Amino acid sequence: MSGRRFLFVLGSSRADGNTELLARKAAEQLPADVEQRWISLADHPLPDFVDQRHDSDHVRPPAGSSAALLLDATLAATDLVIASPLYWYSVSGLTKRYLDYWSGWLRTPGIDFKATMAGRTLWGVAALAHQEAVVADPLIGTLNNSAAYMGMRFGGVLLGNGSGPGDVLNDTDALTRAKTFFARETPLARFPYEG
Ligand SMILES: Cc1cc2nc3c(=O)[nH]c(=O)nc-3n(C[C@H](O)[C@H](O)[C@H](O)COP(=O)(O)O)c2cc1C
Repeated sequence: MSGRRFLFVLGSSRADGNTELLARKAAEQLPADVEQRWISLADHPLPDFVDQRHDSDHVRPPAGSSAALLLDATLAATDLVIASPLYWYSVSGLTKRYLDYWSGWLRTPGIDFKATMAGRTLWGVAALAHQEAVVADPLIGTLNNSAAYMGMRFGGVLLGNGSGPGDVLNDTDALTRAKTFFARETPLARFPYEG
């Protein structure tokens, strides 16, 4: 057993979209002994995030809630893949809300969220309609900087082009990149000012 456990967090607000298709193409290349878990945020809706960081102690989210499922799955993952379409040049709202919950988990007693996630690897997969990939830089920056803040490794973002569902399967360059994406080096993430 490799001991690696990949969690794919799907952030599209539609089923069977381009982002998931591209993520599945990349995941096909993972060795058989690597565990894969796929969770669609649309299927496990999180309530609006409320910032209680400075009000009171956090408690673990109640068993059976979407937050508990996502927290437990996140804590169990050695490799966390944020698979979000490009929405307004950044991550989707569903994805952003999941990341906002991390801020609460950082204050939740007993889980040591930051220390647990440190050294693990964050990856990104994103579909976008725009032809020029550079417009996805804000999404890449969000994930890179979040990984840097958490002391995580960062594997980068696999981008694919498409507007309607299935379009990404015509992006042959993206499909080629998908074949080796998860074999990349994953350096510790650094903020841009760290050089
Ligand atoms: C709310 C919304 C915002 C979007 N914003 C962008 C954008 O800023 N840039 C872009 O290239 N495409 C944008 N798109 C297009 C999607 O990125 C594109 O359709 C992508 O294939 C959707 O991925 P999915 O099939 O995994 O849902 C947007 C789509 C939606 C619904």
